[in-house]
Amino acid sequence: MKEEIKAYNSVLDLIGNTPLVKLSKISANITGNFYAKVEAFNPGHSTKDRIALYIIEEAEKRGILKHGDTIVETTSGNTGFSLAMVSIIKGYDCILAVSSKSSKDKIDMLRSMGAKVYVCPAHVSADDERSYYNVAKRLHEETKGSVYINQYFNELNVDAHYKSTGPEIWEQTGGQITHLVACSGTGGTISGTARFLKEKNPNIKILGVDAFGSVLKKYHETKEFDNAEIYPYRIEGLGKNLIPTATDFDIIDKFIKVSDEESAHTTRELAKKEGLFVGYTSGAAFQAVKQYAEEGEFDENSNVVIIFPDHGSRYMSKVFSDDWMNEQGFFDSVNQEEALKIEIIK
Ligand SMILES: Cc1ncc(COP(=O)(O)O)c(C=O)c1O
Repeated sequence: MKEEIKAYNSVLDLIGNTPLVKLSKISANITGNFYAKVEAFNPGHSTKDRIALYIIEEAEKRGILKHGDTIVETTSGNTGFSLAMVSIIKGYDCILAVSSKSSKDKIDMLRSMGAKVYVCPAHVSADDERSYYNVAKRLHEETKGSVYINQYFNELNVDAHYKSTGPEIWEQTGGQITHLVACSGTGGTISGTARFLKEKNPNIKILGVDAFGSVLKKYHETKEFDNAEIYPYRIEGLGKNLIPTATDFDIIDKFIKVSDEESAHTTRELAKKEGLFVGYTSGAAFQAVKQYAEEGEFDENSNVVIIFPDHGSRYMSKVFSDDWMNEQGFFDSVNQEEALKIEIIK
């Protein structure tokens, strides 16, 4: 008898079941045990693979999506890449409206995956007709046989994490997780994962990460949408200038805000100290851990799981570029020695 060939049917079979990696050096001076859920191990290199596959398959089950139809979405990059990847395998067209804040690498990657990309101005209000939300809405209305994924206002985004990320973390920690630290953009990751974990153990603390320039933290604390909180910032995918219904604010215990600069340095520190080449929001998430630790959130019995949403390769022209770091003024006298050392032999 011939041996069975051990192959996956497609890259879609590789989505989910990402590893949990213990952090040691970067957390050496912080009390507690810290574990990264490294979502870059998904085939599309981000956590958004989970929602792309789940939402598309739910739409198929409900008869909303048929072969040859078009998928439309707004995305800061990762969701678009995952949707384009799933569309290729399943035979859909993919149209994406992205923010001009997204890196050129990300936009080129979407185009490489066969998506049609519309780049929309980043610094306009969400209700402006040029915002990527409204451009996507218009493209959906104009395209026959199209489905608008609408990740900010789609409960299936939350369900995807309730059904996969949450159970994986519970199982990987043997139920010993005490804190979840996760960035909030659409809020799908933190809300769905938290919902599952809190059902298992209501004492698990859910610690959110927000950006300076975003409304989420203040809204969580006061239920007030404060326009004065909104200003441009550099981290992509974290924080928001609107309130997504995919965020379950009641399930999140606390939010903390992180800065562009400290998050950028922490992203580089993760690569240098842990060998984890992960994206800007992963750095933001660990930066939040440092700040939460200063607030006394953790003790020696804490088992803290931090979600690292995507891969570092998406930020070669940003946090991993010394030129970019210099342009932002992130290499001051304190951090100058952190610049990547290159010796040019002439
Ligand atoms: C790089 C990155 N990190 C974090 C997030 C936040 O995840 P969520 O939208 O599930 O809140 C996103 C979402 O767009 C992202 O692209």
